[in-house]
Amino acid sequence: MVPNVDSYNRKITYLRVSVTDRCNLRCIYCTPVKNLKLLDHADILSYEEILKVIRVATELGINKVRLTGGEPLHRRNFTHLVESVCLIPRIEDVSITTNGVFLKEMARPLFEAGVHRINVSLDTLNPLKYTKLTRRECFDAVGEGIQVAETGGFSPIKVNVVGIRGLNDDELLRFADFSVRKPYHIRFIEYMPIGRDLNWTTEKYVSSDEMKSKLKTFGPLLKIPPSIHDGPAERYRFESAKGEIGFISALSHHFCPSCNRIRLTADGKLRPCLFADDEVDIKSPLRNGYGHEHLKKVFQQAIARKPRRHHAEILEKREGLRPMSTIGG
Ligand code: 5AD
Ligand code: SF4
Repeated sequence: MVPNVDSYNRKITYLRVSVTDRCNLRCIYCTPVKNLKLLDHADILSYEEILKVIRVATELGINKVRLTGGEPLHRRNFTHLVESVCLIPRIEDVSITTNGVFLKEMARPLFEAGVHRINVSLDTLNPLKYTKLTRRECFDAVGEGIQVAETGGFSPIKVNVVGIRGLNDDELLRFADFSVRKPYHIRFIEYMPIGRDLNWTTEKYVSSDEMKSKLKTFGPLLKIPPSIHDGPAERYRFESAKGEIGFISALSHHFCPSCNRIRLTADGKLRPCLFADDEVDIKSPLRNGYGHEHLKKVFQQAIARKPRRHHAEILEKREGLRPMSTIGG
């Protein structure tokens, strides 16, 4: 058996690592305000443990890592972890998903640590709506952070926008204009029925096709030929634009057949699929002193357990789901 090929012949090359479940924001689609249960510190993998898992993964064919959260920049000495990940042989691509609040201070050190690609979550360009959505007043900090990342040389800078009806579906043309003026990749993500304090309803869900047809009223969307860094995104740009527009259609267009990823949760579980609750514990073998070869087998087992496809479109409201902040966005 080829070590990183799953049961459906997909080559798994991409590991997404949630480095913490903590976050300084409280986005309505991610985190509840009340009864927020956080993992015990002792349950969260140490940086040494995370690095060990990544090293094992590279021997199985993983060559791309994304560090995410919660909010990764919120974890102490995060830059040290980034530096170490960037130095791992066979890791060709390291990127970060952040809410951008600490970017103003951290963009430069992170760039120097070796990461040059970043995704910033910014679902609205309206400061009041931002406060409503994230329950924190950090809009200006994020704007400044993105600017510092841009001048610091990050490229591409991707801006993640979850389309939510009644909240930001009236801002699509503003984002279109943003993509023309700024060299950012705006990526519209379909609102998914996951998270703890499930706010998701079918009414709030906006399909990529709907967003696309609204955006076309701004101007013709020119298709960009696919490249290896695209992942599941479908890419376009407006004429003479500095930036791009992309769509991630987790619900309306299944990209499961081309899925190349696996996740490591903050508390040390390998998660074969974002939408399925199946997890493989790698923390216990790590902490019980099992060696490299055993950890490789555990990792391979998680790859083998990747389901053929998800059925998130019929999930609707599910109870007992893990919060997105512990899985990694
Ligand atoms: N649906 C779609 N995207 C989500 N994210 C978090 N929760 C959801 C959800 N329910 C995404 C956010 C953020 C990233 C960390 O995860 O867009 O950019
Ligand atoms: Fe924090 Fe991201 Fe969750 Fe918002 S979506 S609360 S920024 S982890």
